[in-house]
Amino acid sequence: MHHTAVFAPPSLPGVADSVLDLIGETPVVRLNRLAPAGGAQVVVKLEGRNPGGSAKDRPALALVRDAEASGALRPGAAIVESTSGNTGIGLALVGRVTGHPVVIVHGGTMSPEKLAVLRLYGAELIEADWAAGPDDPDNPRAVADRIAIERSGWRSHQYDNPANPGAHYRHTGPEIWRQTGGRITHLVAGIGTGGTISGTGRYLREVSGDQVRIVGANPTGSTYGGGLPGIVRVEGVGTTWPRSHWPQNLDTSVPHEIRTIPDDVAAATVRDLAAQEGLLVGPSSGLAVAVALEVAADLDERHVVLAIAPDSGTNYLTLLAR
Ligand SMILES: Cc1ncc(COP(=O)(O)O)c(C=O)c1O
Repeated sequence: MHHTAVFAPPSLPGVADSVLDLIGETPVVRLNRLAPAGGAQVVVKLEGRNPGGSAKDRPALALVRDAEASGALRPGAAIVESTSGNTGIGLALVGRVTGHPVVIVHGGTMSPEKLAVLRLYGAELIEADWAAGPDDPDNPRAVADRIAIERSGWRSHQYDNPANPGAHYRHTGPEIWRQTGGRITHLVAGIGTGGTISGTGRYLREVSGDQVRIVGANPTGSTYGGGLPGIVRVEGVGTTWPRSHWPQNLDTSVPHEIRTIPDDVAAATVRDLAAQEGLLVGPSSGLAVAVALEVAADLDERHVVLAIAPDSGTNYLTLLAR
């Protein structure tokens, strides 16, 4: 029999039709050693179990689907984005499957593992200057804007495009509510674009009748928690605003509070999670869990604190092995 390109094989019960169908439905696990016995439960949602290795697979798919539907991204057109890594990986993965070339502009600060993953997914990599200010032509966002125009490509604008928090509102929030049987009392999430905390947090506040407290995790050097901008060392989270762009995707009415944690505490928590719980997660996950443990210290056994772990430690082996 002659098979054309549009031939669709019969579906099989335990087989996903495409890697895109494997995005989401990530597991949640309780911390049995790091959390104080008899106190609040501290549980972690492992977003590193997404096929591209991070929570960013969710917005990447939503951003592309939304742009295809609106006509902003035409068939075969290039996807162009400036990113510190995980959104680029998500877009590269989704671009492969949906037939779009992907161009990633990075600031030269991405881990070697993430760069290797992007190359393997066939993304084109362009290095810009992370230290260049928002009005400087070498700023990664300015470079991405220029390339998108040159190639008639589409920019996902993950910091401002509502499809990013929308993915977390439609999927991450409902998953957490279902997985905790509606017993979550506190959500802890790091803030990069604000997509995770704004979308997930808004859903959980609405579904619970405003009973879930939303706590943002902010690394030292970042100004989400106030103060003056410094150097942000934890990949994927924090802002140096007013030296950089303020994300429209951070809905400041969603978090009840934002706590700032020193880099070395986040790093120590990554090591504790691996050595004591058998969980290998990335630095921003260490940050979120460090905040969750701090929050849980003041609570009793009636409380369930859920921290979102955005990615796995395998993306940072060079860094973590130091
Ligand atoms: C490793 C990592 N952690 C946390 C975040 C923060 O997530 P969001 O952008 O949804 O605020 C990101 C996003 O870039 C990330 O890459």
